[in-house]
Amino acid sequence: MHVDPLALDWRPHPRVTWDVLLGPRDLRRALEEDVRHGLTHKPRELPPKYFYDARGSRLFDAITRLPEYYPTRREREILSTRAPEIAARTGADTLLELGSGTSDKTRLLLEALSAGGTLRRFVPFDVDAVTLRSSTLRIASEYPRLAVHAVVGDFERHVPLLPQGGRRLIAFLGGTVGNLAPTPRARFLADIAAQLGPVDAFLLGTDLVKDIPRLEAAYNDSQGVTAEFNRNVLSVLNTELDADFQLEQFEHVARYDARQGWIEMLLRSTEQQTVTVADLDLRVQFTAGELLRTEISAKFTPPQIDREIEAAGMRTEARWTDRAGDFAVTLAVSA
Ligand code: SAH
Ligand code: AVI
Repeated sequence: MHVDPLALDWRPHPRVTWDVLLGPRDLRRALEEDVRHGLTHKPRELPPKYFYDARGSRLFDAITRLPEYYPTRREREILSTRAPEIAARTGADTLLELGSGTSDKTRLLLEALSAGGTLRRFVPFDVDAVTLRSSTLRIASEYPRLAVHAVVGDFERHVPLLPQGGRRLIAFLGGTVGNLAPTPRARFLADIAAQLGPVDAFLLGTDLVKDIPRLEAAYNDSQGVTAEFNRNVLSVLNTELDADFQLEQFEHVARYDARQGWIEMLLRSTEQQTVTVADLDLRVQFTAGELLRTEISAKFTPPQIDREIEAAGMRTEARWTDRAGDFAVTLAVSA
């Protein structure tokens, strides 16, 4: 997201349109506010959306292939068996995908909607313009009759501006909804509910509560890729805001908080140190062992998913889990 979206080569393509809802000034203002607030308040915290510059998106893609990181494989298992049923139930002509990334698993939905004869349009939506652009062009070339309308935006702000028209299936896969804390998550789900017309549907991927060692292993992989991903947010601040974080002086920590029902990812300062964020004119003191939270990843139970969907003004129409019961995909409609 840290490349100015408007500086990319958005060459005209006969079947691809682009919307940039997050211009360079917007991006910059949000980054400055979030970082100033997050580093000057205790406990210190940075929003996870700043992981995803082009390198962070590549690291996330590598995470999805790690042996310990089961969610992507489990969700793919569900979609590979259930996509035809999802296509038949929704009859969608437009697939909208929030936080689309590489849109890898999404192909299963595109295939099923296309086989069902309804698919006309794909709308990938992501904050990372670089990854969005390359995955959009790849999908446009793989599906020669599909209209693609790519949107660079922030799903915490821009759901009310999603393209309208047709029979829409709004997909939010990967368990990314769990990266939102309960209050923003409720706001996000209410924004989705307000978008859904009588023929639209919402498809939500959520990771499920399970035994703690498996949960923690998924975020503490043996190759250290998740640690790299975690520290990438500091590289982003070094590049974007002329900060001087020494990455090797921050240790990766990921632990399950059973009371909250979420994995917390943190960076622990290995020593007492002062970090300067030149563009913000900010000096931040870290004590030895001090923690900076970079992400939560909430894990759900099916009744909790239903409660949150209902509280937002939707109702669950169907739910599928993988054979091991690790991950759930829920289809919801307007209540
Ligand atoms: N849906 C994919 C990717 C998940 S990774 C999958 O299931 O594998 C999370 C994705 O959400 C990344 O592509 C990231 O750039 C995007 N993202 C994170 N925060 C966002 C935000 N606030 N608005 C829009 N996209 C966001
Ligand atoms: C994108 N999101 C659902 C991932 C997750 O599992 O919460 C991000 C991630 N963080 C560490 N590993 C993967």
